[in-house]
This record gives sequence, structure tokens and C-alpha cells, in this order.
Amino acid sequence: MTTISQASYRPLLDADASPEELVIAYHERTKHYFHRYAASLGSMDWATQPDPFRRYPGADLVRLLLPTPGRPLPYWQLYASENVSSESLSAESISLFFRYALSLTAWKRFHETTWALRSNPSSGNLHPTEGYAVLPAIEWLGDAPAVYHYAPKAHALERRAILDSKAWSELCAPFPESSFLVGLSSVHWREAWKYGERAFRYCQHDAGHALATLRIAAAALGWGLMLLDGIDNSAIADLFGLSRVDDDGTAEREEPELLALVTPGPPLTSAQRLSEQWVRSIGAQWCGRANTLSPAHNVDWPVIDEVAQATRRSESAPITEDFSRFPTEEQLFGIPVRQGLLAAETAILGRRSAVAMDGSTAISQEAFFRMLARLIPTRDRRAMPWDAIPWRPRIHLGLFVHRVEGVPPGLYALARDPDKLEALKEVMRREFSWQHLLSCPSGLPLYLLQEGDCRALAARVSCGQSIAGDGAFSLGMIADYMASLTTYGAAFYRNLFWEAGMVGQVLYLEAEETGIRSTGIGCYFDDPVHEVFGITSRQWQSFYHFTVGGQIEDTRLTTLTAYDIEVAPQGSPCSTLFSLSSVTP
Ligand SMILES: Cc1cc2nc3c(=O)[nH]c(=O)nc-3n(C[C@H](O)[C@H](O)[C@H](O)COP(=O)(O)O)c2cc1C
Repeated sequence: MTTISQASYRPLLDADASPEELVIAYHERTKHYFHRYAASLGSMDWATQPDPFRRYPGADLVRLLLPTPGRPLPYWQLYASENVSSESLSAESISLFFRYALSLTAWKRFHETTWALRSNPSSGNLHPTEGYAVLPAIEWLGDAPAVYHYAPKAHALERRAILDSKAWSELCAPFPESSFLVGLSSVHWREAWKYGERAFRYCQHDAGHALATLRIAAAALGWGLMLLDGIDNSAIADLFGLSRVDDDGTAEREEPELLALVTPGPPLTSAQRLSEQWVRSIGAQWCGRANTLSPAHNVDWPVIDEVAQATRRSESAPITEDFSRFPTEEQLFGIPVRQGLLAAETAILGRRSAVAMDGSTAISQEAFFRMLARLIPTRDRRAMPWDAIPWRPRIHLGLFVHRVEGVPPGLYALARDPDKLEALKEVMRREFSWQHLLSCPSGLPLYLLQEGDCRALAARVSCGQSIAGDGAFSLGMIADYMASLTTYGAAFYRNLFWEAGMVGQVLYLEAEETGIRSTGIGCYFDDPVHEVFGITSRQWQSFYHFTVGGQIEDTRLTTLTAYDIEVAPQGSPCSTLFSLSSVTP
């Protein structure tokens, strides 16, 4: 294997290009076309396959005892947070939080090969996303505030740094007691190893899915979660110990992505935000050194470093936008959903991607409308998970409907921001009918564009993947791209993918609720998708695809439980937690 080095790389643009110009150049460069895919190695270099589990040997490992399975909270209650009582902050509730957000949910085996699945999905199952938390002193977990890295394979927290208690109290002064911080980073290399230059996009999708799983996990505990969007990326790196190159040696770098505040009650309003100065002032003594994930890197993708640099956020005023023209819950759903047999835990831990769709399962129009209604923020800003992000939707859906009872097959559009309807009409094909179905709830901005059988078309634009045509429906997520970059700058490129990932995560859970399955689709032909909807302007760009339908189970695979010991031993207070610095990774 020859090493492909940076030497032959020509930068995206001249040195004086703006970050927005760099983003646009990256996005264009990493499009898939019918005649050529975005640059990648084109084959798997198995010898350098990255370890999906980052560890910090040398840091104390605090094992979280697995929560007793079978929590009865109904799935629908995740979306009716006023009905979920808030759990107190304890080692037990933190264990449940990470179990629902980022833990392993199963091991799969095929012949001699095994691989783990998690509550958060990941492009290619490569899992570039790492999770962090800053927690106060909690009995059984630690007697001082500390920075932790979540280690999913062990369902444990690695204590990276102990914080000064006074600094922690000052940080949390504006927030309700028992608030804490969580954050995400990406190891670009994990995705780039397989997907080359397009990998930056996938890392952002995955971060968006994980942001949603964090929000959903918090909802299951009666907690709020809000993205702290005005924080500088380098402050996040400092807070989680990601910029400490001297400690990391050959370990692959982690790119700081986002920071969120978890509160015991509903999410806070934008007025009560974290001071960045504060984040920077936190004094910490760091423990542990990051492990190296691949023995060698035989290829480099410098364009990923360029776009990462261009999209790093500087401290900015938090986003505040007006939701007063959004529909109410009643307008969106008709009758709001307040019943259902599925447990939240079954949906969260049982979520899986379909690898093949059966080409026959149809869903009811009620289920279809409910799934789509879940994707829209409400006027009161309480719709979960949309209460976690402060911007109005920038991601709209172009749908390929195949099998929904009472809904004619064809192309549809969901304008997730009702005020963008006219702009979408303007940019899409003139001949589209924009018909609101009679049976559709009045506040659900779903429109039939053109009737017809679009199964082959859907599969074709999703890189020829039949899952896009064989489900009940599939979709392209059309981003209000240029206007977003103009309003909030190049850093918001990441936010667009996060929002798309959040849409995907809601669809994953909604498919479980409907008794079917779904799959994220990162491989699609960008411009051909635009052509389907008649989009010729660069202003709007497809950011992600998704398919929902009846799956064909792969019976060749064996499923094993996620963890050897599934439950806390009888009689233990909450968990037999222990701290060891010598536990093997
Ligand atoms: C951003 C993203 C892109 C994905 N793209 C594809 C795809 O193009 N085709 C596909 O079959 N699966 C795709 N998947 C599904 C992943 O392969 C799947 O999430 C992973 O194998 C883990 O399985 P699980 O979702 O069942 O946990 C994608 C998932 C994500 C999150």
C-alpha cells in the first residue's frame, strides 16, 4: 500500500478565500455523480481499520451499572414531557442517560466476525462520535465535579479531569441545581478511512443523530437538553481535553463538535446561557492518554482538515428565532398522540437500520402523517427534540411516497418551516401541483407535488440502493443552504447536517413505533436529486436521504446481548460502581 500524502494535494481554494467559499467548494467537490463518486480509496484497507472504541488508559474508569431493563415509560410520553417526572441526578440516572444515548445495544455475528450496534446509528457503523460530560459530585460516581469521557464498550465513564468545586459552582450558578454539560466530538479518521473526502459530511450527520439521542435520553428521564450554540469550538476542546496534543501522541485527533446543557426540568430559554469565558476558566488536571485507533494511516484526506477549519465556530451571540407562526400541536397532529403500547426503552434500544426492504409493506396514512408531524417544531417550542436547538428548520423534505394507504404514490414536499413554502414553490418545478390532501391535518405542511410511481427513481438517486424504492416511502432532505450560510456563517454548515441527523433519528424511532424499520442514506447522487425536484439553484441542496418501510431480516446474522452482565445485582444501592485506573480498555 502506497502512502497518499498531502504533498500532491491542491488546496480547495486560494489562501484568501472566505470560510463560506471553502464550505461551498467542499460541498461541490464531495458530491456523488452518476459518472463519478466523491474521492475515496475505493477499497478497504483492512490492516488500518480504526478501532471504534476510544479509550484513555491511565484515567480512572467508573463503571456504570446497567440499569434494570424494562422501564415502563411509554414511547409517546417522550414527546409529552410535561407528563414525565424528573429523575434526580444520581449514578443510576446518569447510567440510564448514557445507556439510552450512546451505549451498545447488541452485538451482531456473521461467521467469525462480530460488530457492535449502538443506540445512535452511524454511517458505515464506523462511529466517529465520542461523548463527554462534565458532572457535579455524585454519590458512587465521584466526590468532586469532573470531566468524563463515555466508553460505550464498557458502559463506563473515564474520569479525564477533576475540577475545582468553586469553579463548577460558579459555572452552574445561572442554572437550576443538578444541571450538567454533555458534549460530542468527531474522529474524522474513522469515517475517512472508508469514505474518503465525503466523510466530513457523515461525521456531521452522526453528530446530529447523537445530539438527538442525547435529547431523547434526557426526555426519558424528565430532563431538558439545550444546545449551547454560541460557544467557540476551541473552548469545547479545552473543556473536554481535546486540544492536549502533548498527551495524545499518535492518537487520532478529535474535532470538537458541540456542547449542550442538561437541566432537571424543561430546556432553558436562550436568556440563560453559559458564559464562554467561564468554560475557559475551568482549571483541570488531566488524566489518561488517548489510544491510537489505527496502526498506520496510508492515506490522508487534507480537504477534511480544510473544511473542519473553515467551519469552526467562534464565540457568537446565541441564536434566537421566532416560532410564533408555527403550528400548534393540535394543528399538526389533529388529535395529539397520548397513547400507545410501545415502551420508550424498546424503541430506543431496539432501533435498527433495515438492510433490505420487502417491497410490499404499506403503512396507514395516520402513521405517515404522525411521523411527519413529529418532525416539525410547535409554536410553544415544546416539541421534542426540536426544543434542543434554537434555529427554525432549515431542512425540508422532498418525499418519494410508494406505499401509504389512502395517499397516492408520488412526489411530495414537507415544508418544515411553514414560512418557507413560497420559497420552495419558487425553486421547484413549475408544473408541481402543491396540493394539500384533504385527510392531512390542517397544520401539517405536506403537499402532493406529482402523482406517479417513483420507486425506481428513488432507488436510482440513492446510489442505486433498492432500500429507497422498496420501502413505504423515502426522502431527500433539502437544505435552505446558501441563506443559512449567509445568515450564520460557515460554521452553520455543520448545523445543517446536525438538523438532518435529528430528523433521521426521529424517523428511526417513529418507524419502531409503527412496527417497521428505517435506514439513513448518506450515499445519494446530489445533483440528480435536485433535478427530480427541479432545483437548479445552488441555494438549496440535498443534505441526507432516508427510507422507511417493512424490512427483510437478515437471518444469517446472530444477535448477542450488548453487555455480558445486563442488570445491577439484587440489593445493590444503585450500582456497584468502582474506580480503577488499571482496568484494561
Ligand atoms: C449518516 C448515515 C448514513 C448512512 N448511509 C447508509 C447508506 O447509504 N446505505 C445503507 O444501507 N445504510 C446507511 N446507513 C445505516 C448504517 O449503515 C447503520 O446505521 C449502521 O450500520 C449501524 O446499524 P444500526 O443503525 O442498525 O445501529 C447510514 C447511517 C447513517 C447514520
